[in-house]
Amino acid sequence: MYTEKVLDHFSHPRNMGELKDANGIGMVGNAKCGDIMQMFLKINDDGIIEDVGFKTFGCGAAIATSSMATEMIKGKSINDALKLSNAAVVEALEGLPPQKIHCSVLAEEAVKAALEDYYKRKGIEMPEELKKKAEHKDVHEVQK
Ligand code: FES
Repeated sequence: MYTEKVLDHFSHPRNMGELKDANGIGMVGNAKCGDIMQMFLKINDDGIIEDVGFKTFGCGAAIATSSMATEMIKGKSINDALKLSNAAVVEALEGLPPQKIHCSVLAEEAVKAALEDYYKRKGIEMPEELKKKAEHKDVHEVQK
């Protein structure tokens, strides 16, 4: 049911925990399942995400997707992080069961919420990408 990658990230989550010196913090939840995800970003003056942390109170897939999402944006620019889609996270995990796709949406939304917080703290206008909600892309094609 779950790929090796999902099980690996669930058993050994990367970048788990709070970042004390984060300058972008976002928290999102899914009302249906009740899972909550918190994302911490430390962004330097060049707009590079130097460090990432996450705290997820949720299912195994939520933990695996948040872990993978942190790996995919660490060391990247905020513009790259803005482009992170839940479909890309699912693809990197080599698939998720259909009923667990919403967990990856939560990961995308958590990253966007943390970026939104960063922009707010900086007092700069948010890019359009942040203004629109995370789209539910057709991820079925990346499922195995
Ligand atoms: Fe809701 Fe996984 S079951 S985030």
